[in-house]
Amino acid sequence: MLTSEVERSLVEQIGKEGFSSNLYLAMASWAESEGYPGISAWFYAQSEEEHGHMLKIVHYVIDRGGKAIIPAFEKPPVAWEGVHDVFVRVLLHEQSVSRSINDILGVCFREGDYATSQWLQWFVSEQIEEESSVRAILDRLKLLGDGSLYDFDKDILAMRSAGVE
Ligand code: FEO
Repeated sequence: MLTSEVERSLVEQIGKEGFSSNLYLAMASWAESEGYPGISAWFYAQSEEEHGHMLKIVHYVIDRGGKAIIPAFEKPPVAWEGVHDVFVRVLLHEQSVSRSINDILGVCFREGDYATSQWLQWFVSEQIEEESSVRAILDRLKLLGDGSLYDFDKDILAMRSAGVE
């Protein structure tokens, strides 16, 4: 059984993961309309992953006897200044998600919920991986410079299948 504080923070995280999924869907849609098939495919896949994170928490809350309430999601932006800008936003967003996972861990320790804190370790590792993959993308963009976005668009999916995700 979850304490009400742990349940409340997990339900809040359901909203954050759902928003992440919608944010990356919006970025995928933007990239597709801008003519970047590789970047948009990367974002569509990322959006699915975030949807999976949301479901993971929904199932956990229910399994532990709580109520997994699904909130309304804030409308994501519709456009970005360019490819570099969009990935800077992704990094900032993922850093804020990492902080919020950390905050939930803080709640678990205060409430003595060691089972949930152990379960959350998967999210801790996932966040480290996601932040590092976006940093790798930003480094690659810096190396290529703005003139080579066509090559970057082809490269980004290879980075994903090479395990940089
Ligand atoms: Fe599931 Fe990347 O936050």
